[in-house]
Amino acid sequence: MQITQEELKVIEMIVEKYRNFSGAAIPILQEIQNRLGCVSPDFIKKVSELTAIPASELYGIVTFYSQFRLEKLGEHHIQICHGTACHLAGAEQITEALEVETGTKCGCTSEDGKFTLEKVACMGCCSLGPVISINGEIKGRLTPDKAKKLIREIKKSDKANEGGGRGGSK
Ligand code: FES
Repeated sequence: MQITQEELKVIEMIVEKYRNFSGAAIPILQEIQNRLGCVSPDFIKKVSELTAIPASELYGIVTFYSQFRLEKLGEHHIQICHGTACHLAGAEQITEALEVETGTKCGCTSEDGKFTLEKVACMGCCSLGPVISINGEIKGRLTPDKAKKLIREIKKSDKANEGGGRGGSK
């Protein structure tokens, strides 16, 4: 992923803002993620060049704290609960079904940027397990088939929106 001029400007501005702070690595990385959606390897390289903080140190921070992401979230952010109750209720099978239907592995984003699958801890609605959240909306009592169906519905609705929204501009 190349850095765009716009992204470069944002990174330079953030680094400049923390120029005189010691221990600024974490706030810099947090602000980059808030503004640009992730802390990609290219962003890390650029921050390292601009601050002289070794890239290995920045990588260490990004991989240690779960709040940081190395790649942007997909359009549909799917969190799969792997807490004890959901695990016993079949979270693994739900994960496999979602991986098949979205074409991406848990912890990754699909190549078309549509789906990000993420494994999370208890989401606080164990009686509905197995549970997933799609862009913050909880879906419970899932089966592998129901999970696949949800993804197919999202794909269908995305296709309909793309066709309807941009059809006239080509
Ligand atoms: S274990 Fe899944 S919601 Fe609690």
